[in-house]
Amino acid sequence: MQQQLILYLACAWTLCAGSGDWCYQSQFSCDHQCNAPENWDHASRNCAGRSQSPVNIVTRKTMKDDRLTPLKFENYQHIFRGLIKNNGHSVQVGVSHPSTISGGGLSTTYKAVQFHLHWGNNGGPGSEHTIDGEQYPMELHIVHMKSQYSDLGTALRDKEGVAVLGFFYEMSNSPNRKYESLINALRNIKPTNGNTTLSPIALAELIPPEQNLTSYYRYKGSLTTPDCSESVVWTVFENPIPLSMDQLKAFSELRFQNGKPLVKNFRPLQPLNGRTVFRSGGAAVMISSALLVVALAVGLEVSQPN
Ligand SMILES: *[C@@H]1O[C@H](CO)[C@@H](O)[C@H](O)[C@H]1NC(C)=O
Ligand SMILES: *[C@@H]1O[C@H](CO)[C@@H](O)[C@H](O)[C@H]1NC(C)=O
Ligand SMILES: [Zn+2]
Repeated sequence: MQQQLILYLACAWTLCAGSGDWCYQSQFSCDHQCNAPENWDHASRNCAGRSQSPVNIVTRKTMKDDRLTPLKFENYQHIFRGLIKNNGHSVQVGVSHPSTISGGGLSTTYKAVQFHLHWGNNGGPGSEHTIDGEQYPMELHIVHMKSQYSDLGTALRDKEGVAVLGFFYEMSNSPNRKYESLINALRNIKPTNGNTTLSPIALAELIPPEQNLTSYYRYKGSLTTPDCSESVVWTVFENPIPLSMDQLKAFSELRFQNGKPLVKNFRPLQPLNGRTVFRSGGAAVMISSALLVVALAVGLEVSQPN
């Protein structure tokens, strides 16, 4: 164990300094010398900025904002045949038809560009954002840019150019049939750069029904991979998507470029540095049990967090 640690430190501090290539800690090894998360600022200086993502959302420190009404989803029902690719950091699906989001306190309309996921090892903790310290097994990111832009690079130069919707997953006892297309495709893209066409799906099938999307958190942050641009309006939904243990485990069959299992592809938590996380009307706040007892004793209405 100790020998491994020394080997690791030798790699991290000497051999790898200055390499432009970034990786997750789980990919790091002496034969693959890459910048692990604490060195991502070597790949891009933005990664050392003060408004980085992901963050831990402490629900009792969130601020309720009445402008955070339900988002308006347009064309999310559109069925398409997307290309799914193992890009060596995640699985990503390009979205080329116009699915858009607006409302919910967003300043304009944003169109979907791609979606990808972050996961753990065989269904273990794997989300990027955490809620009151809880890390979920997986997190979906649907990346949108302002409709006026035609490429993500331009959108990333606008402080609010990109809107990412984040959804958590939770383990369920039965498989989620709506995920069969996506999960069956994973078998064909195990090696890095593997790609295949998905059987037809709609974005709406991948996320909870609209009536379950009224509770969410909102804050200003960054991409969670280099170049870590601080141009993202984050919306993190409270209601998780159910997947069975086997479905969650299927993601751990993918491989990094160096052949190691593509697991734990989440960035470590970043400090808020004074940023406020806002919550929509429906979002729950964790109330400590001591407070709950006091509140009940004085007859306060605690079942309606506000
Ligand atoms: C998909 O994989 C094929 C090889 O199987 C390759 O020729 C093609 O460039 C890949 N496409 C993308 C978008 O990566
Ligand atoms: C929607 O929310 C309800 C209440 O929290 C929950 O019981 C139900 O399972 C959710 N549906 C989905 C598909 O997430
Ligand atoms: Zn992501």
